Parts: sequence; C-alpha cells; structure tokens
Amino acid sequence: MRIWLEMSIFAMALLLQPLSHAADKGGNQAGEPYDEDTYGPQAPTVWVKPVKSVIFEHRVHTMDAGLDCGSCHDDLFEMSSGAAAEKDDFTMAAIYKGKYCGSCHDGSTVYNANTRCTTCHIGVRGHQRLERAQAEKGRAK
Ligand code: HEC
Ligand code: HEC
Ligand code: HEC
Repeated sequence: MRIWLEMSIFAMALLLQPLSHAADKGGNQAGEPYDEDTYGPQAPTVWVKPVKSVIFEHRVHTMDAGLDCGSCHDDLFEMSSGAAAEKDDFTMAAIYKGKYCGSCHDGSTVYNANTRCTTCHIGVRGHQRLERAQAEKGRAK
C-alpha cells in the first residue's frame, strides 16, 4: 500500500516535471528532487511555545508517507505558519484527545504521540543545530 502510494506520487511528479521549475531544491536518497508545489514547503515548521522546540516536516508526511494536502489542510491546520501556535489548546492534552497532530499520531494510524517524544521534540539543542544548518545553507547560495 505504502509502496504503491510512493510509486504513484513518483509517477505524478514525473508527469508534472515539465511544469515545475527549479529541480535543484535538494532531494531524497532515491534522487527525486523535492518539489514544493507537489510536497509543500521544504523548510521545516518549528514551534517554540509553549515548549521549545517541536518540529514538523512536510517532506516526511507528503513525499515519504504519501499523504495529500487535504489530510491536514484546512481541517487540522491552516496553510499559514504560526496559526496553530496562537491557539491556547495547542498542547499535548489536545493532541492526546485526537486534535492537531493527534488526529493521526494516535497509535492506530501512526505511532502514538505519547511515545517517541523526541521525534517531534528536538529540544533547544536540536533547534540550534537546525539554525546553524540553515545559516550554512544560506551562505552556500
Ligand atoms: C500531515 C499534515 C500536513 C500535510 C499532509 C500537509 N501540511 Fe501543510 N502544514 C501542516 C502544518 C502542521 C503546518 C503549520 C501550520 C501552523 O503553523 O499553524 C503547515 C503549513 C503549511 C503552509 C504554510 C507554512 C509555510 O511554511 O509557508 C503551506 C503553504 C502548506 N502547509 C502547504 C501544504 C501543501 C501544498 C501540502 C500538500 C502538498 C501540505 N501543506 C500538506 C501540515 C500538513
Ligand atoms: C494526517 C496524518 C498526520 C498528521 C495530522 C500528523 N502526522 Fe506526523 N506522521 C504521519 C505519518 C503517516 C508519518 C510516517 C510514520 C512512519 O513512517 O512511521 C508521520 C511521521 C512523523 C514524524 C517522523 C517520525 C520519525 O520516524 O522520525 C514526525 C516527527 C511527525 N510525524 C510529526 C508530526 C507533528 C509535529 C504533527 C502535528 C504538527 C504531525 N506529525 C501530524 C501522519 C500524520
Ligand atoms: C507527534 C508529535 C509530538 C510527539 C510525539 C510529542 N509531542 Fe509534545 N508537543 C507537540 C506539539 C505540536 C506541541 C505544541 C507546540 C510546542 O509546545 O512547541 C507539544 C507540546 C508539548 C508540551 C507543552 C504543552 C503541554 O502540553 O504542556 C509538553 C510538556 C510536551 N509536548 C511533552 C511531550 C512528551 C512528554 C511527549 C512524549 C510522551 C511528547 N510531548 C510527544 C508534539 C508532539
């Protein structure tokens, strides 16, 4: 099922190739270039409140796991960075009740948000590493 999803996304990416610009935005191990029109923003979303820092990557969810935009937008999340962070209930309690990330990270769709904390919580050091990497990338351009 997952393989099939990945293959059809790959086929779709090939079909869209002539329409897409800039094929040099990075890529996965298989060599497929990351296309933001197909997979969403490449830069990770990083939340710093109430705790620092939680990471969300479109790549993991769209390109790797084969989810389409409609699985999250706009029922669970708005297509605007910072929207969720403004909500008072953007907390583990809500996530455990199946809101936000917990809509899937519930132990049946994918791993439960009450396990593997550090997949999402990269901490203060993780945040610093990310900022350094992004600064280096900026300099390389
Ligand atoms: C698994 C859930 C999920 C999927 C699937 C998903 N997104 Fe998102 N998206 C998010 C989250 C979470 C945010 C951050 C929202 C916030 O900060 O309130 C976001 C934010 C965005 C933003 C605004 C942030 C920015 O960096 O510009 C855009 C644009 C976006 N998504 C586009 C897409 C597109 C296009 C797709 C499909 C190719 C997609 N998303 C699929 C969860 C998802
Ligand atoms: C629509 C369903 C869905 C939603 C909503 C969702 N995820 Fe995911 N997430 C997935 C799937 C599917 C995977 C891939 C799991 C796997 O391969 O084991 C995944 C994987 C991940 C991973 C990678 C874990 C690893 O193995 O390293 C992280 C981190 C993650 N999600 C964070 C988040 C965060 C943070 C949110 C909320 C902002 C979120 N996800 C919302 C479906 C979702
Ligand atoms: C699927 C992703 C994900 C996983 C797994 C996850 N969290 Fe979170 N966590 C979030 C998000 C999103 C927020 C809200 C944004 C922020 O605080 O930066 C959050 C916020 C929090 C907060 C502050 C808000 C509150 O609820 O008090 C604490 C504490 C927390 N997490 C602890 C944990 C612990 C402990 C675990 C493991 C048992 C865990 N989290 C696993 C995504 C996750």
